[in-house]
Amino acid sequence: MTDFPQRFPATRLRRIRQSGWVRNLTAETTLTPQDLIWSLIVHDGDTPLIPIDSMPGINRLNVAEAAKAAARASALGIPAIAIFPHINPAHKDETGRECLNPDGLIPRAIKAMKAAAPDVGIICDVALDPFTTHGHDGLIDEDGYVLNDETVDTLVKQALVQADAGADIVAPSDMMDGRIGAIRAALESAGHTNTMILSYAAKYASGFYGPYRDAIGSATALKGDKQTYQQTPANTDEALREVAMDIAEGADMVMVKPGLPYLDIVQRVSSQFGVPTMVFQVSGEYAQIMAAHDRGWIDGPRVMMEALMAFKRAGASGIITYYADLAAERLQTS
Ligand code: PBG
Repeated sequence: MTDFPQRFPATRLRRIRQSGWVRNLTAETTLTPQDLIWSLIVHDGDTPLIPIDSMPGINRLNVAEAAKAAARASALGIPAIAIFPHINPAHKDETGRECLNPDGLIPRAIKAMKAAAPDVGIICDVALDPFTTHGHDGLIDEDGYVLNDETVDTLVKQALVQADAGADIVAPSDMMDGRIGAIRAALESAGHTNTMILSYAAKYASGFYGPYRDAIGSATALKGDKQTYQQTPANTDEALREVAMDIAEGADMVMVKPGLPYLDIVQRVSSQFGVPTMVFQVSGEYAQIMAAHDRGWIDGPRVMMEALMAFKRAGASGIITYYADLAAERLQTS
């Protein structure tokens, strides 16, 4: 790239920045509504919308509102929605058994959303934390240690419940070892050969998930942290090993999470593996931008669009974001 002379004034790089049309023409990266996955929090009550304090502008939706959101996504050209449940505390227990209820919140939401917008992909989180009283993603022993293989058995059943209800993509976010292979094998034997797996392959133990834990109601419950299963923020080679194993076990797509603080991981994963690489702009990233916007310190929508473009530039094929609908609207009018 630099083996030809680029010398001033023959080269003035500002020439290609002088007006909008030429900036557009020479853009190396594009962002469209098709790059977005809308993350939505659903709840099992009657109230249509319940605002989430730590995520200004975001509500928990009841099932009817989730169906409306699916229609909205379709109209905006957003290809898929990822749903996350806020479970009534009365339905939580130590083992998260409610996640296996075929008439539970997630199966009902999937059906309502598919009925409202059959062309929008539905992605379901596979993990136990919304359903457990202790807020961990898996089953725990007496010492509070999250058990791997026992948890995988439950995750397999949870993924089958989601697939049976019509989920297009199951997305294990729990970071147990071996769960992708186990889920893939179970989907195959159950005849769900077309159900895709989006593995949260490189998911870090991050403080950026704070507002999400408020949103799903697991924050106050969570005992300890998730460092024995989620990745250490210091590591990058380890992320590549996680991704390699998950692809070998049958993941169709992989994810890096959180997003902006881990752009280096997005770039390494997308360039080394060439598999569809998603990135999650998590709740804390959303909250940071919106809180600063609300104080008048930054232009929130502008910063949002810049962050979303940065994910594309780093090599992401898709971006999960709570801002997807508003981003799509901006992209349609710009
Ligand atoms: C857990 C899960 C988390 C998120 C999605 N699934 C958080 C966690 O690991 O505690 C985070 C989403 C966000 O912060 O927006 N299975």
